[in-house]
Amino acid sequence: MEKIRDLALLSDILPTAFHGLMEAGAKPGSTVYIAGAGPVGRCGAAAARLLGASCIIVGDHDKDRLALMKRNGCETIDLNEDVPLQDQIEKILGEPMVDCAVDYVGTEAHGIGKDADKEDPAYAINQVIDVTRAGGATGIIGIYGPDPLADSKDEQNGIYPIEFGNAWIKSPKITAGQAPIMHYNYELMQAILWDRMPYLSDMLQTKVIGLDDAPQAYADFDNGSAEKYIIDPHGMIAS
Ligand SMILES: NC(=O)c1ccc[n+]([C@@H]2O[C@H](COP(=O)([O-])OP(=O)(O)OC[C@H]3O[C@@H](n4cnc5c(N)ncnc54)[C@H](O)[C@@H]3O)[C@@H](O)[C@H]2O)c1
Repeated sequence: MEKIRDLALLSDILPTAFHGLMEAGAKPGSTVYIAGAGPVGRCGAAAARLLGASCIIVGDHDKDRLALMKRNGCETIDLNEDVPLQDQIEKILGEPMVDCAVDYVGTEAHGIGKDADKEDPAYAINQVIDVTRAGGATGIIGIYGPDPLADSKDEQNGIYPIEFGNAWIKSPKITAGQAPIMHYNYELMQAILWDRMPYLSDMLQTKVIGLDDAPQAYADFDNGSAEKYIIDPHGMIAS
């Protein structure tokens, strides 16, 4: 029960995030770009550390979420700055590319710099493809299904402008889809129980709330809160 807040992440976001790293071929010493510092992206950074990645770079527009990453040993890129992602990565690594990159954003992606306020559904996926080195791999955890509420007919039909042609010469490996959660559950549970991810709590800022607090928590999450809420309807954790 002491670790229940971390263990609750096994229900979806931690194995999902871990799967993205598996798709992208992350291994000890890899340089990794994590697109998105939402709860799933933050779990991705935690998973990259568990896997022994060397430099973990996290990009987002949200300063509070990036601050959590920074204080937990990641390099961060503030996408409000009007500097191309490759240039930002070069400033950190000395080269404009990483070994593997994972999209933890999906179709709610925004542009960068002066376009940071604009939704651009294929922006994050194109960025991760763009910054992955030739022969590297890219994981797509963000969701790209048909969006019935979208303005454009293409997006309603699940068609997004992915710049595959620009990447073709790099022999890109791109893997996407729903993560097989149960496949990773046991090992990640053991990693938590044996303190291999002690940084998880600080990265995720998990907060347990009662059912009555859920509407406010949903609203706060929608506004980009840096906390991850766990609803405990029967007060079991408190007791
Ligand atoms: N594949 C699966 O099995 C699976 C499971 C769970 C969640 N997901 C998906 O994972 C994604 C992330 O979930 P979440 O709860 O962390 O979402 P979230 O909305 O809290 O986080 C997304 C973050 O991405 C940032 N962002 C926006 N544009 C960006 C860009 N161009 N580059 C980098 N960051 C950018 C946002 O500021 C935000 O902080 C969603 O699409 C969600 O549906 C997939």
